[in-house]
Amino acid sequence: MALQHIDPTTTNAWNKLEAHFEATKNHQIKDYFNANTDRSVAFTIIWNDFLVDFSKNNISSETIELLLQLANEVQLKDAIQQYFSGALINQTEGRAVLHTALRAKKTDTVLVDGVNVISEVYEVKSKIKAFTEAIILGHKKGFTGKAFTDVVNIGIGGSDLGPAMVVEGLKYYSNHLKMHFVSNVDGDHVFETLKHLNPETTLFVVVSKTFTTQETLSNATTIKKWFLSKDFGTTQSDVAKHFAAVSTNTQKISEFGIAAENVFPMWDWVGGRFSLWSAVGLSIALAVGFENFDALLEGANEMDEHFKTADFEQNIPVVLAMLSIWYNNFHGAETEAIIPYTQYLSRFSAYLQQGIMESNGKSVDRNGKTINYQTGTIIWGEPGTNSQHAFFQLIHQGTKLIPTDFIGYKHSLYGEKDHHNKLMANFFAQTEALMNGKEAEEVKNELSATKMTATEIENLTPFKVFKGNNPTNTLLIDKLTPKSLGALIAMYEHKIFVQGVVWNIFSYDQWGVELGKQLATTVLKDIENSEISKHDSSTLNLLHKFKI
Ligand code: F6P
Repeated sequence: MALQHIDPTTTNAWNKLEAHFEATKNHQIKDYFNANTDRSVAFTIIWNDFLVDFSKNNISSETIELLLQLANEVQLKDAIQQYFSGALINQTEGRAVLHTALRAKKTDTVLVDGVNVISEVYEVKSKIKAFTEAIILGHKKGFTGKAFTDVVNIGIGGSDLGPAMVVEGLKYYSNHLKMHFVSNVDGDHVFETLKHLNPETTLFVVVSKTFTTQETLSNATTIKKWFLSKDFGTTQSDVAKHFAAVSTNTQKISEFGIAAENVFPMWDWVGGRFSLWSAVGLSIALAVGFENFDALLEGANEMDEHFKTADFEQNIPVVLAMLSIWYNNFHGAETEAIIPYTQYLSRFSAYLQQGIMESNGKSVDRNGKTINYQTGTIIWGEPGTNSQHAFFQLIHQGTKLIPTDFIGYKHSLYGEKDHHNKLMANFFAQTEALMNGKEAEEVKNELSATKMTATEIENLTPFKVFKGNNPTNTLLIDKLTPKSLGALIAMYEHKIFVQGVVWNIFSYDQWGVELGKQLATTVLKDIENSEISKHDSSTLNLLHKFKI
């Protein structure tokens, strides 16, 4: 069974949304609040330890009704069912999309080609548990008999961003192992990382779904060479003790010389950017222990259940996805900011950039036709309050519409109340200010309390006015735990899915990235050989200058 091919712009809901946009485009969010004191209750979803307040959006209940009508008209319910059941919804690669199976319960059944994959998933989980416990407890040792102190994750894209983001996100729960991530094929970064490492006590985890990615293979090869350098007294057989690998390509792994006991399989029905739940998350399990890794999966599984079963109006990923479509396709917003008010999530937006932009950055529909409406949003963000002192000026007073997700926690992890109150005061104040803005009248009143003259006040006022009316979603979560982080990540994964369904695109391939891989191979030959192949004059000149 394949996903439906429904052009969203041909639906009744889309036409109605266009008319609705024309009729409401100048509405002020704050006026909706003035008209309805119960608004925040009506536009809040409470689920487990999540509170999602989407009332500070430029929407009325009619907007929500129409957006959900759109979701129904593109047959989102059926699509969700297909997504979870292992249908080949990654049609251009002929694959199912089943990262949700990686966090399914042991008693669940998920069929791929008629075979229940859950037992395999749990086998690999047991292997992850045994391996990570042996490393953490010091039972597995390095070539001189010392316990491991450092772990280097070698991977790129989904084989780096997810593990790196979660390892940082769950640092509070981490053990003694020091984690390092090498992704870029930048030798300087590789050697900068190796500089402080002791080969006797360092474990290298090579992560590559395909085991053909140039960056990862080059880095792994260079690191293996470093490990085998004469100064360390290592031999080829020591590689087996210090290298582990995660991949679908087990043959290539054995060619690299990694011992079978250190090889962790994954499956082609797991997309790279959704793979942290598989053995790709080995670094996570090493950093925070298997129990916490499992809790991360459990949180994601709970969000999966919510997404599968909640009515659309109470369904967090559906509502967030449809709101984003409202701004992207009707209000003409081009970007979305994601601002977590916790330093632990400093890598969160970088991680989501791959998930969202690699998935939905498509301009051809499921029929292979060029589409005439906007798809993938541009994602960016940094933790608050740092971002307030960096780019919030543009959100407050710039010319662009930037819907923003604010993610904050009721409790801090170290329980330092004073700091947490200040952090969260900023969190609440920003969403309020972004909505309310500041009118000229208010600015003048404030300035008249200073020593400024009337003319000075008049001249300065326009610069201190804030137009307001900037939409935000507020996600208030109880505490940053492995479980709540798992649910948060899964929430965004499902938002990606919903948007792909509405936009009638294939979200789970990435041909745009494949092109880059091919081109770099050709240019590398041009750099290494004496002859340079055909290029435009700019590229030719640049290559000549580089080679001199
Ligand atoms: O960036 C393209 C991509 O194919 C991603 O989807 C993937 O996460 C990354 O490359 C790394 O691929 P691999 O895990 O196969 O090395």
